[in-house]
Amino acid sequence: MCGIVAYIGHREAYPVILKGLKRLEYRGYDSSGVALLNEGLKVYKRKGKVAELEESLIGKDVHSASGIGHTRWATHGEPSDRNAHPHISANGRLAMIHNGIIENYNQLKHELINKGYKFTSDTDTEVLLKFIEDIQVNNKVGLEEAVRIALKRVVGAYVIVLIDQDNPDTLIAARKGSPLVIGIGKGEHFLASDASPIIEYTKEVVYVNDYELAIIKPEELVLKNLGNEKITPFIQKLDLELAKIEKGGFDHFMLKEIFEQPQTIFDCLRGRMDAREGYIRMAGVDKNIEQLKNAGRFIIIACGTSWHAALIAEYIIEELCRIPVEVEYASEFRYRNPIVNKGDVIFAVSQSGETADTLVAIERAKENGAFVFGIVNVVGSSIARISHAGAYTHAGPEIGVASTKAFTAQLAILTMIALKIAKEKGTIDQKRFMHLLSELHEIPDKVKTLLESNDSIKKLATKYKDANNALYLGRGYNFPVALEGALKLKEISYIHAEGYPAAEMKHGPIALVDENLPVVIVATKDSYHEKIVSNIQEIKARKGKVIAVITSGDKVITGLADDVIEVPEADELVAPMLSTIPLQLLAYHVGVAKGSDVDKPRNLAKSVTVE
Ligand code: G6P
Repeated sequence: MCGIVAYIGHREAYPVILKGLKRLEYRGYDSSGVALLNEGLKVYKRKGKVAELEESLIGKDVHSASGIGHTRWATHGEPSDRNAHPHISANGRLAMIHNGIIENYNQLKHELINKGYKFTSDTDTEVLLKFIEDIQVNNKVGLEEAVRIALKRVVGAYVIVLIDQDNPDTLIAARKGSPLVIGIGKGEHFLASDASPIIEYTKEVVYVNDYELAIIKPEELVLKNLGNEKITPFIQKLDLELAKIEKGGFDHFMLKEIFEQPQTIFDCLRGRMDAREGYIRMAGVDKNIEQLKNAGRFIIIACGTSWHAALIAEYIIEELCRIPVEVEYASEFRYRNPIVNKGDVIFAVSQSGETADTLVAIERAKENGAFVFGIVNVVGSSIARISHAGAYTHAGPEIGVASTKAFTAQLAILTMIALKIAKEKGTIDQKRFMHLLSELHEIPDKVKTLLESNDSIKKLATKYKDANNALYLGRGYNFPVALEGALKLKEISYIHAEGYPAAEMKHGPIALVDENLPVVIVATKDSYHEKIVSNIQEIKARKGKVIAVITSGDKVITGLADDVIEVPEADELVAPMLSTIPLQLLAYHVGVAKGSDVDKPRNLAKSVTVE
């Protein structure tokens, strides 16, 4: 978690850093700070969002040509002014920002306390900084060497950036397990957790790898490994537009991202499938098709919303490819000594490509000889780079903390992969293959149509916003949609919500049903339709309030439910890409009606880079 930004060059550093921190607030926003260098080190930091820091700095001296900034998501130590970054060395000479966790910080802290160091925060970051300082002072080495020595003893994950008042034209940065991008300008360099703070200035970037150290001056970037050997930086050109990461007239990023879905799903399908010609071409899949179609089993690892996409993929892949699928929370998989056989293929699904548990789960799977296929949104992210092969979802930057467009793009990719494997394996006939391609092709237009219900969903949100609990039910492909709908509501509105398979309701949740409980039922027309109609009747018999997501024109459910939201008709296999969207909108409008900060809900972060 946490977002870092740094700048060195000919501009004023503070505005660059401040704007960058605002773009990175999705990574954490419980406190923020900057360290600026101008005839000495000036450090400003405080609890709260970046805007509060900005306000507190009005009228202060922020002039400087280099600086570092941080927006925090607390791990060690509560959100507070003193735990905010940057931290300062005991001699006041160094300032450091950090994203990650130093696991052996306690041991290092004791060693430093025994040497007389005092600590002013509860953070692992201050420990690492003072550890570096101690090496620098005692070993009489430069900062670069001190960092290198220190990092060899560090257990954990980090991106660190240090600024040194005695050496104002150099920043030192290092990475292991957390992301770091360096933007290369003319006589200037930009550092950030992702490319969004950088693209407005330069499109040329270097993604720093694990165990690499960067020595950055305005005119020069030197990359080294921890063995002090130089590495040639691999400069990439970014294909990312600034407009794509701004709100574009919407009140919130979340709403903008929900409304982008016709385009993002289209972008995800574009160039990869042709419904008329009847083909799917995906470089990463095509190159590895033997491995994929002969897999003994697929294991899909993911967290959060990506895990829900994985659950839907389980239904789709087993149906189409007849290959067993297991879906695992990455955090469970990594610790539970799972059985991974030769020939098993791991799909790792992640929007950010940086989720710590998913990253480590991939490492574990690789150690066991598995082939790892990454399905990732953020180009150049860690998961994309450590997977053997993969496919990007091309949903564009997702800023709202609650995932929306990344989810539907994941579904689109996973469906295409399943169709391609099934075709190659011969487990789908030509007619069904062509039918599903055309169903996929029509999804973006159908999403456009269903977004027209936004105003009526907003009215529903006003009607139900005061509920204390909500139940979400679905069957088959729509069961994980119910889980996702409940998660969205929890994240954005802080209303407790549970998702359940509709039939399982009788084994517990039905006891909760009364006239105060809104029950959201995902009941589009599919092979389970009659069964779910019975479930609705069971709820109505107990006076529950039913809000049903139905296929347009479904008179049966319209006659039973209290409220309905219609979505266009679609094959059940692709229907979740439609039925999820009203639930995203419902959560959004309830959140707004309740006054939550929907883009940055409390306690959450977009990118969970700690376990
Ligand atoms: C966080 C985000 C969720 C996301 C999950 C997994 O909890 O708030 O929106 O689904 O992490 O993240 P990933 O980037 O791996 O998909």
